[in-house]
Amino acid sequence: MPVGGADDLKDAIIAKMKKDHGLEYSRDEISVACGAKHSLYNISQALIQEGDEVIIPAPYWVSYPDQVVLAGGTPVFIETDEASAFKITPAQLEQAITPKTKALILNSPCNPTGTSYSFEEMKALGEVCLKHDFMVISDDIYERLIYDGLVFNNIVQVVPELKSRVVVVNGVSKTYAMTGWRIGYACGPKELISAMTKLQSQSTSNATSVAQKASVEALNGPQDVVNDMIKQFEKRRTYIVSRLNSMLGVSCFNSTGAFYVFPNFSSLYGKSFEGKLINNSSDFAAYLLGNAKVALVPGIAFGADNYARLSYACSMENIEKGMDRIEEAIKLLK
Ligand SMILES: Cc1ncc(COP(=O)(O)O)c(C=O)c1O
Repeated sequence: MPVGGADDLKDAIIAKMKKDHGLEYSRDEISVACGAKHSLYNISQALIQEGDEVIIPAPYWVSYPDQVVLAGGTPVFIETDEASAFKITPAQLEQAITPKTKALILNSPCNPTGTSYSFEEMKALGEVCLKHDFMVISDDIYERLIYDGLVFNNIVQVVPELKSRVVVVNGVSKTYAMTGWRIGYACGPKELISAMTKLQSQSTSNATSVAQKASVEALNGPQDVVNDMIKQFEKRRTYIVSRLNSMLGVSCFNSTGAFYVFPNFSSLYGKSFEGKLINNSSDFAAYLLGNAKVALVPGIAFGADNYARLSYACSMENIEKGMDRIEEAIKLLK
């Protein structure tokens, strides 16, 4: 089995990239790994040298900064909040770029905020990138999970001139609910893909062959189940956002993608329950876990302590129960 992926899986990825995004890749521009997380890790290790800076919009997915640091790089964060729909602006990007900038990581739709960039917004960022010389890592893992009639666009689709400087990361975990199968892939310039594959040959070798076969079926097979799943996710998103916004002291951005909401709970900080003060997102998450039996991830893990992340990749019944419990628990805070 070739380290960088079986030919039939690479061909399925080539067909998908062409059909869904109008992008042309050849087999030697694709490397398959044990999940998109592994693809991103390989990219960091192959690309980043000691002292390189990598621009990461915050709130960010937890692994980005750590992977950059592990490779000897320095994460440079661009802060966003709900007032800007958790999106960076071209001016913010321009300001973050230095001669040491090696890469920018974009993740739309985004984990944890659920925000998604429009065609125009992505184009404006792409035009800034064109004026400089660094790689763009486009983490497209949630590309199908996009709502409110929005259309997914990655940066290569909107600014094709960038193609030689973009590595697109995707996988089967989210779209096909195949998280445990551990198949992710990267599509990008040959030299980078070849370095990533060489690196992988000294760690995992190829991703598991049976999981690669299953991914060929997922990519080439009928896609109607995905559309049904998207409808369910959108319903849950609408419900969860409206429930959270109706709670006293909570404001929740209307996420337009992925399966997360990222409500702001900071107006509850400073309150207490039975003498125990809630000062930050970790205290609040611990309070909900202990007293309401609801598990959410403190925003501090994503670089944003005013928030917490809730996943709606669970049944509507559990979401309703969870919302009732959070609402009651908040009422008990003094
Ligand atoms: C933004 C983002 N990128 C990548 C991944 C990794 O996905 P995989 O399961 O394919 O490793 C995740 C998984 O949570 C994610 O949220």
